[in-house]
Amino acid sequence: MKLLHQVIADVVEHDSFNRFHRLRLRAPEIASKALPGQFICVYIDDELGKRFIMPRPFSISDADKEEIEIVFAVVGSGTAWMAKLRVGDTLRILGPLGKPFTWLDGCDVALLVGGGIGFAPLPFLAKVLKAKGVDVVAIFGAKSASEMPFKTAHEHVLRISGVGLSVREVARWGVPSAIALEQNYEGTFHGSVVDLVLHWLETNQNRKVAIYACGPREMLKRLQGIMSERSIAGQFSVEERMACGVGLCLGCACKVIEDGMERYKMVCVDGPVFDPHKLIL
Ligand code: FES
Repeated sequence: MKLLHQVIADVVEHDSFNRFHRLRLRAPEIASKALPGQFICVYIDDELGKRFIMPRPFSISDADKEEIEIVFAVVGSGTAWMAKLRVGDTLRILGPLGKPFTWLDGCDVALLVGGGIGFAPLPFLAKVLKAKGVDVVAIFGAKSASEMPFKTAHEHVLRISGVGLSVREVARWGVPSAIALEQNYEGTFHGSVVDLVLHWLETNQNRKVAIYACGPREMLKRLQGIMSERSIAGQFSVEERMACGVGLCLGCACKVIEDGMERYKMVCVDGPVFDPHKLIL
């Protein structure tokens, strides 16, 4: 039986970058079981005592035995309340939820691809795959520098001409990365994240790559087309509006092809990680 824990977590770190916030929470019951690709639900109990009935889902960006990390942008009253949390405050969370990413045997390099806040689950995956001895690289994309949820670094830059910046969240695990921005910004690739993926694939044709991606639907759709044309294996983490987070409300359905038939799956319990060759986007 799957073990879920609803716990009171302590905020142990809170910082912000651009319009994004990173919370590190002490929750050993959840942290010790969390796997990359899984998420937690946060219950919003605001300072006026108002309780939002439906919790909010957040990908786990990092976990060790004691603590987990989440990254979020303020998009409504719930996240506005979370943005005001300070070190020492507590919040109710449930997790770990959902199916995790898995390593695809037979591949020799993992290419992690994230768009915007969709990059959130990938640093944890980078850390775990790297620890397994897998060769991992990452490509991150956003519209502009101010839409980046993570800081840049100068170490572990993926070797692509003109690129001099990497993503600090994966550089800290020794994973090389590159950044694609739709605005001109020194040290980054000028174009979409998918264009940069294509560029990387062209220069790594002799490698058996697995693509792990999370981000906007349009980005996933383009990637899905490329993976299907080139028979590239991989896994996508799908973002969907969620209410209960545990398969009860049926509010997070997505469509997949299974045994030649279209079927509905619940992102919260059947995903959020799916085979891109089966997903209907
Ligand atoms: Fe309720 Fe998925 S969020 S079923």
